[in-house]
Amino acid sequence: MKNGKFQVGIIGCGGIAGAHANTYKRMDDVEIVALADIIPGKAAQFAKNFGFEGARLYNSHSELLENETELDAVSICTYNRQHAIPTIEALNRGINVIVEKPMSVTLDEAVEMVRAEKKSGKILSIGFQPRFDESMKFMKKVVRSGELGEVYYIQTGGGRRRGIPGSTFIEDKTAGVGALGDIGCYSLDMCLDAIGYPKPLTVTAFKSDYIGKNPKQYREADRFSVDDFSAAFIRLEGGIVIDFRIAWAMNVDTPGDTIILGKEGGLRIPSTDCWNGGFGDMTLYKTIAGCNVQTVLPTPKGGDCWYGKLRSFLEAVKNGGKAPVPTSQILYNQAILDGIVRSAQLGKEVEINIPEI
Ligand SMILES: NC(=O)c1ccc[n+]([C@@H]2O[C@H](COP(=O)([O-])OP(=O)(O)OC[C@H]3O[C@@H](n4cnc5c(N)ncnc54)[C@H](O)[C@@H]3O)[C@@H](O)[C@H]2O)c1
Repeated sequence: MKNGKFQVGIIGCGGIAGAHANTYKRMDDVEIVALADIIPGKAAQFAKNFGFEGARLYNSHSELLENETELDAVSICTYNRQHAIPTIEALNRGINVIVEKPMSVTLDEAVEMVRAEKKSGKILSIGFQPRFDESMKFMKKVVRSGELGEVYYIQTGGGRRRGIPGSTFIEDKTAGVGALGDIGCYSLDMCLDAIGYPKPLTVTAFKSDYIGKNPKQYREADRFSVDDFSAAFIRLEGGIVIDFRIAWAMNVDTPGDTIILGKEGGLRIPSTDCWNGGFGDMTLYKTIAGCNVQTVLPTPKGGDCWYGKLRSFLEAVKNGGKAPVPTSQILYNQAILDGIVRSAQLGKEVEINIPEI
């Protein structure tokens, strides 16, 4: 810190960098000192838009990391295919990192990121802001309360009838994964975090691009080269299974609510388009004195997710604490995404093998 202020850089000055910028601007002890984007002029325009005129500007993550020797932290806001490389480079230079979700595209990349994190002794947190949403926090509390008993089955995912985002999200060379990496990682994180992130063992999966690649259905079909829908059956340690499906586009309104079945009770969480924040009231199912009952749980709404995500990261940086959204968990999330892609490509079940790190 310099003059009591965190020295922060932002790598990638696109859409989501704006959310990082607006959140940091609410913190008196943060100074945005450096910005990088590989598109000429984009960092300068970003500096102007967000009032970071004093920030030093760079044409790539490497140029920024080479020149900035006093950074406390960087926000890595590049597209998915450029998550691993800048993260590893920043950690190697002793800089704490918060990288956007999904952690990476492949499991191999995620493993290398964790290796760099361990070697550096610095913090690497993954940008899952829904963790700080009040509905999400309450859902976790309900599952952890023990009312459901031992959880053995989860149905999750969701998505939308039509809602392919466009931009850098739809091309393999930038995004690497489509709906799966964009919104699939959220619903998996919600459920896995609630049950303590058991290790994934196997997955059998399917993915498709029928709507994204159809020019009659999607305006940028010629550019579309990722998944618009996927479904998977995932086995976890402890005999738990996840029945998962996620869609940017499908010919139905929703593939269903999230359902968590335990030996003593069940929980229904109303489906959403995205799972990146709040949801409607949950329903708890129990059997009491032989009577099947269901209770609508008044589910809290709201929460300052973005502030929670970035502030908790900076507090960990300041106090030498643990990453608020740790790689020890998100590595499993990424291993599932990777397993889904591999299984869908091979057309059969695959094992999930996570190397020792
Ligand atoms: N947490 C959330 O709610 C949320 C929401 C949207 C997107 N995201 C994630 O944020 C990431 C970025 O999404 P976006 O919509 O901002 O994309 P975007 O394409 O608008 O922005 C990415 C920017 O990174 C730049 N870039 C790429 N590689 C670079 C490099 N090596 N060095 C410097 N700049 C580089 C690109 O030129 C581009 O300007 C994605 O991984 C996405 O999944 C998260």
